[in-house]
Amino acid sequence: MQITFLLNGETTTVALTDASLTVLDWLREERGLTGSKEACREGDCGACTVMLTDASGSRAINACITLLPQLHGRALRTIEGIGTAAAPHPVQQALIDHHGSQCGFCTPGIAVALAAAHLNGEADHDAALAGNLCRCTGYAPIIRAAEAAAGALVPEWMQADAAPASLALAAISSGGIGGADSPPALLPESADDLAVWYLAHPDAALVAGGTDLGLTITKALKPLGEAAFLHRCADLQTITETAEEIRIGAGVSIAALLRALAGPQPSFAALLARFASPQIRAMATLGGNIANGSPIADTPPALIALGARLHLRRGDGRREMALEDFYLDYRKQDRAPGEFIEAVTIPARAPNLRVYKLSKRFDQDISALCGAFNVTVQRGRITAARIAFGGMAAVPKRARALEAALIGQVCDEATLAACAPLLAQDFTPISDFRGAAAYRMQAAQNLCLRYARDLAGEAVSVLEVAP
Ligand SMILES: Cc1cc2nc3c(=O)[nH]c(=O)nc-3n(C[C@H](O)[C@H](O)[C@H](O)COP(=O)(O)OP(=O)(O)OC[C@H]3O[C@@H](n4cnc5c(N)ncnc54)[C@H](O)[C@@H]3O)c2cc1C
Ligand code: FES
Ligand code: FES
Repeated sequence: MQITFLLNGETTTVALTDASLTVLDWLREERGLTGSKEACREGDCGACTVMLTDASGSRAINACITLLPQLHGRALRTIEGIGTAAAPHPVQQALIDHHGSQCGFCTPGIAVALAAAHLNGEADHDAALAGNLCRCTGYAPIIRAAEAAAGALVPEWMQADAAPASLALAAISSGGIGGADSPPALLPESADDLAVWYLAHPDAALVAGGTDLGLTITKALKPLGEAAFLHRCADLQTITETAEEIRIGAGVSIAALLRALAGPQPSFAALLARFASPQIRAMATLGGNIANGSPIADTPPALIALGARLHLRRGDGRREMALEDFYLDYRKQDRAPGEFIEAVTIPARAPNLRVYKLSKRFDQDISALCGAFNVTVQRGRITAARIAFGGMAAVPKRARALEAALIGQVCDEATLAACAPLLAQDFTPISDFRGAAAYRMQAAQNLCLRYARDLAGEAVSVLEVAP
C-alpha cells in the first residue's frame, strides 16, 4: 500500500507493508519526530495530539489510535510543524509566558490542541482541552495562556495545509492501492467501491474513524488483518435534510453530526458534545458507533427513541430496518457478511426528545447509563412513547413495559413516578466498574422524573443546578 500526504507542509509518500501501523509509532520510530508523546495509547490523554486537515477543515486528533492509511490525501501537522524555537506559535509563546508547563509531558499535545482551536477561532478553551490531560501544571495557567493567545494572528504556515494546492493532494487516486497487499487493504473512493470489495472480503475490518478499531491494535495487540479505510468515501459523509427527515451518512463524524443537530435536535446535540473529546469526535463516525455495537455507546439510545431507520447495503442490494431490530444480542447484530451501514434516517424534529448521559466525568467518559425519552402528547395525554436505554442490558434497548404503561396517561411527574418502577420488568442491569446493578436501576428510574421535570420547563442540567 502506498500513501501520500502532507507532513508539516512537505509532500510525503510512504510505501506501507503494515496497514495497522499507527501514526504515532510511525512519527516517533520511523521519522524521529518524538515531540508527539505516547502515554495512554488509547485516545484518552491527548499527549499524542496532532492536527489533521482535509477538505472538511483542520482539527486535533489522537495520533496513537490513528492508522497511517487514514492520512492518505490529507495533511498532518505535528508539534514540530506548528512552530519553532525561533518562531514559536502564539500558543507556545503564551504557554511559556503564563507558566503553562511543568514536567512538559502533556505540553506538545496541549499546544497542538490549542493551536488547532486557535486556527478555527474557537473561544471555548475548556471544550478545546477536554481531551488533554495535564497531571502537574493544573489547568488555570494553561487556560490563561489560551486566553492570551486568542487575539494573536494565525501564523501563515498553520493555514497552508488548507490551501487549494494542498487540498489537491486529495485528488491523488488511491486506485490500485492495496491489490497486492497481504493482508489485503483498500482505500475505496466511494460506497460503490466499498460494496464490491467488501462482498469479496467480508471478514475485513471497516476503518471509519478507527477510534474503536485502533484500540484493538494498541490494547488488544491484534493487528487488523484485511481492512478498508473509509475516509475517502465522500458519499458516506453527507447529511441531507427534508421537512420530514434527516438522512445521515454512516461516515459522518460525531463532530459534524453535533454541528448539524444543534438546531433541529438540541438534546441529541448536547449529548454529542459530551461524546469523548474533540480529538475523538473529529474522527469517530456515526456508523462506527452503531456497528461497534457497544451496549454503552452513546448514539443508539437517542436514535432508537427517535425511531431511527438503518440503511444497510450488501453489494447492489439494499435493505432498511428499525435500529432497535439491528441489535440481536451482546455485540451481535443483524448484519450479513459483506453488508455495511450506508446511512441512518431520523425525524427532522422531535421537540420532546431528551437524552441524559450519566458518567463519572462530564467530559471524555463512556456512559454508565444513557436514557433517551421521546413522548408524543395530544390534548394533555401521552399518545406515543419511545424510551430507550444504554447500559441497562446487553444491547441498547427500548423500555417496552414503561412505554405501554404511559399511553393514555397525563404527561406529568406523578405519571412518570408511578410508571418508573416498570423499568424493573424491562431490564436486569449488570454490575460492573461503571455502576452497580442497583445504582443503574435507581438512576434509570430517577431519569424518568428528570424527564417529567424537563418537559415541565424546570432546569435539570447538572450544569445549571443552583446551590
Ligand atoms: C478515548 C475514547 C473515548 C470514547 N468515548 C466514547 C463516548 O463518550 N461515547 C461513545 O459512544 N463512544 C465512545 N468511544 C468509542 C468510539 O469512539 C465510538 O464507538 C465511535 O463512534 C466509533 O466510530 P469509528 O468511526 O471510530 O469506528 P471504527 O473504529 O472505525 O469502527 C468500529 C466498528 O464499526 C465497524 N464499522 C465502521 N463503519 C461501518 C459501516 N459503515 N458499516 C458497518 N460497519 C462499520 C468497523 O468494522 C468496526 O467493527 C470512545 C473511544 C475512545 C478511544
Ligand atoms: S497517548 Fe494518550 S491519547 Fe494518545
Ligand atoms: S505539565 Fe506535566 S502533565 Fe502537564
